[in-house]
Amino acid sequence: MSKPFPNNPMLQGNFAPVMAECAAPDLIVAEGEIPAGMNGTLYRNGPNPMFPPLGNQHHWFLGEGMIHAIHLEDGKASYRNRWVQTEQYRAQRKAGHRLIGTGFGEPPAPGGEGVAHNVANTNVVWHGGKLLALDEGSRPFAMDGDTLEPKGSWTFEGKYEGPMTAHPKFDPKTGEMLFFGYMAAGPGTPDISYQVVDASGRLTRSEMFKAPYASMVHDFITTDEHVIFPIFPATIDVERIMKGGPVIAWDPSVGTRVGIMARNASVETIRWFEGDPCYVYHPMNAWTVHEGGKTKVVADVMKYDRVPLFPNADGSKADTRFEGAASVLVRWTFDLDGNTNAYSEEQLTDLGGEFPRLDERFTGLGYRHGFYAANTRPLSAGKPFDTLVHLDLATGKRRTFDPGAGRYVMEPVFVPRSAAAPEGDGWLTTLVYDEARNLSDFVVLDTDDISKGPIARVELPTRVPFGFHGNWRGAA
Ligand SMILES: [Fe+2]
Repeated sequence: MSKPFPNNPMLQGNFAPVMAECAAPDLIVAEGEIPAGMNGTLYRNGPNPMFPPLGNQHHWFLGEGMIHAIHLEDGKASYRNRWVQTEQYRAQRKAGHRLIGTGFGEPPAPGGEGVAHNVANTNVVWHGGKLLALDEGSRPFAMDGDTLEPKGSWTFEGKYEGPMTAHPKFDPKTGEMLFFGYMAAGPGTPDISYQVVDASGRLTRSEMFKAPYASMVHDFITTDEHVIFPIFPATIDVERIMKGGPVIAWDPSVGTRVGIMARNASVETIRWFEGDPCYVYHPMNAWTVHEGGKTKVVADVMKYDRVPLFPNADGSKADTRFEGAASVLVRWTFDLDGNTNAYSEEQLTDLGGEFPRLDERFTGLGYRHGFYAANTRPLSAGKPFDTLVHLDLATGKRRTFDPGAGRYVMEPVFVPRSAAAPEGDGWLTTLVYDEARNLSDFVVLDTDDISKGPIARVELPTRVPFGFHGNWRGAA
């Protein structure tokens, strides 16, 4: 018989996993109507630990991934969810209990020694005819885009066997997918790989370089001309780990380093800029500017004072909570023709948050509309975000959507009204967890004014645990 889950805050409330996989063919549209022409699928990923932790440790980032898919077609909605059936998932399902721990650095249980770690819990993307579930330490895992049936690990026809970030970038002009992998030469190494995959899914480029130090590199940024590799002091220090210290820890002494290279150049040309210690899980966007014969790269990022959710490297006590971690949306400008490796910073708004997104038809280009999740109510343990924000970066004007008491939002995902619609014109989707019903809703907001509330609210047959990222795949 399986054990109950322990009383850990990251396993309680809507952080707790759902244990059922289901398919619901015709969902109730409880409010409004699904817009005509909004046809496609929203895929979402997040940790959904299949068994209780091995011991006393449990980190949110290490539960096995579950994909939730909401499919819209001709005004109707359907839903299905499936765990990502990685080698780790399959071995544990066969054993009937957990083999791989959910604490960083925790040794496996007997029988788990040879099992490849892959939780595939962070993002899910559609590219080159493939649906890929991603975490940042493993290979992508392919699934059927309609049924979510497992298709197996994907190595780009054997051309790249290494780890892949959960945050690849998609060039809206070329259709290319660009991605990196950290610790690409093995655990604890500062080696980072950089890959380009063409629109058909064929890997066309793979190179390796060394970052200034080994760390957790969650995301990166691309423009139509440059690639930006921000390295933050969430360090991974083998010596510290060997002494029994934490695997990932905040070490501000090493500072922030931001590597920038031209997309058409080799990784050997990366120039490293230097800044104050901080942490960014997610950038919003970046672009390249040419002014008076000079080239600048501008990057908008959601910045924290320190890395949330991880301890201090020196063993001193730290507030590692996720809720209420101080974040701020800032704009960094890098002068590629300047003779200093410093960069400038400007705060863009006074309401911080997480999960910054944009109209991704403008990825890597100058843009105006940003979206993210934020807190506007008093902080409450286990309740991460209660408000969605639409920020007009040209005017600074902000519109917000708060679904009401006892309801919490997840990452916003933008869907254009049509292929030719102006930037930011369309719908903002999210999942709202309703504490009173202990269920989640799929919600559609009109970006004309998200504060007006949902133009459609669709009731899902289950709750969707607070997770990480998702993406919209428009109907072909
Ligand atoms: Fe992320």
